[in-house]
Amino acid sequence: MEIILSFLSFMLLFNHLDGTPQFTTCPSSVCLSQPVTYECNSGADTLAWIVLDTNGDRVGSPVAYTVFNNVGDTGSIGGQFITVLTVGGSSLVSNITFTPTLNMNNYTVQCGAVGTLVNCSIVIANIPSAPIPSSITFYSDSLTFPWSPSNSSCLSHYNVNVTSIEYTISTNDTSLSLPVPSTNDTEHSISVVAVDTGGRYMDPVDQRTFVADVPEFVTNIQLNQTDLSIDVSWEEVKKIINQYFMLFL
Ligand SMILES: *[C@@H]1O[C@H](CO)[C@@H](O)[C@H](O)[C@H]1NC(C)=O
Ligand SMILES: *[C@@H]1O[C@H](CO)[C@@H](O)[C@H](O)[C@H]1NC(C)=O
Ligand SMILES: *[C@@H]1O[C@H](CO)[C@@H](O)[C@H](O)[C@H]1NC(C)=O
Ligand SMILES: *[C@@H]1O[C@H](CO)[C@@H](O)[C@H](O)[C@H]1NC(C)=O
Ligand SMILES: *[C@@H]1O[C@H](CO)[C@@H](O)[C@H](O)[C@H]1NC(C)=O
Ligand SMILES: *[C@@H]1O[C@H](CO)[C@@H](O)[C@H](O)[C@H]1NC(C)=O
Ligand SMILES: *[C@@H]1O[C@H](CO)[C@@H](O)[C@H](O)[C@H]1NC(C)=O
Ligand SMILES: *[C@@H]1O[C@H](CO)[C@@H](O)[C@H](O)[C@H]1NC(C)=O
Repeated sequence: MEIILSFLSFMLLFNHLDGTPQFTTCPSSVCLSQPVTYECNSGADTLAWIVLDTNGDRVGSPVAYTVFNNVGDTGSIGGQFITVLTVGGSSLVSNITFTPTLNMNNYTVQCGAVGTLVNCSIVIANIPSAPIPSSITFYSDSLTFPWSPSNSSCLSHYNVNVTSIEYTISTNDTSLSLPVPSTNDTEHSISVVAVDTGGRYMDPVDQRTFVADVPEFVTNIQLNQTDLSIDVSWEEVKKIINQYFMLFL
């Protein structure tokens, strides 16, 4: 049977037990939309969870466990923070699991025994900075656009924006090969952003622009994206002359 006492009665009943609580898992930053678990050992036969919002106000009601709880007993704070007792006995261990949202930035998760709460802040990782594009390499009928890999721990994927075909391509790679666009003497632009698990990204740092002076149309460009690959097909151009590109900041 699940026993979750209110924090007040928990304090009254067990205030003679003092622990040295510690977070055994407290990530320095967390990713949006990716469930995360913090782990706490209260060092005592009681354990309490409290969540404070950005203003320092309590979120929901605290969850408290005692030596009378069973391992596996769960609790909930505000419906968003789920706790579970993982180790019973004289030194209780419990996990709290939640899915970070932007408004949880700077929330404080507290854990401990009576009178000795320790803190773990919820820090949402920064938006990944935009990758730095490298030079485009031109081949007879295609181009390759590479960029610097993102160091963000919350990277989801890269979005490459090709204005000439008004298309945004998602990829996990750090370069993309495309057919030389079909429109004659038109300026084309390619830019890349790093998208995090919350769908956030920084504006592209720059945009590679080039003009392909194609003597004949490349026709029927098709880009079909599946989960893991991008299939590109086009009708071959016989000759391509005078390709160049410029870098605009
Ligand atoms: C509790 O959290 C820790 C750290 O994330 C994890 O290794 C462990 O498997 C979790 N235990 C349970 C029962 O969820
Ligand atoms: C979070 O806390 C830090 C340090 O206390 C502060 O600089 C920052 O502005 C806070 N962010 C939010 C979103 O409240
Ligand atoms: C824990 O966080 C609360 C609220 O931000 C703060 O008042 C308290 O001083 C912190 N305790 C520790 C040990 O840092
Ligand atoms: C990524 O690199 C930038 C610039 O070098 C640095 O400021 C940032 O702290 C790094 N982030 C991570 C998660 O390593
Ligand atoms: C692609 O680039 C065009 C032109 O710069 C811009 O208007 C559009 O918003 C971009 N699309 C995305 C998805 O970034
Ligand atoms: C990127 O990799 C992840 C994990 O392997 C996968 O789920 C996702 O579909 C990939 N995204 C793209 C655009 O290929
Ligand atoms: C592309 O432009 C070049 C130079 O202006 C011209 O000679 C060629 O015929 C054009 N190709 C097409 C398919 O319009
Ligand atoms: C892309 O999809 C269209 C319609 O399903 C199909 O006709 C075409 O052959 C596909 N192209 C590639 C390169 O797979």
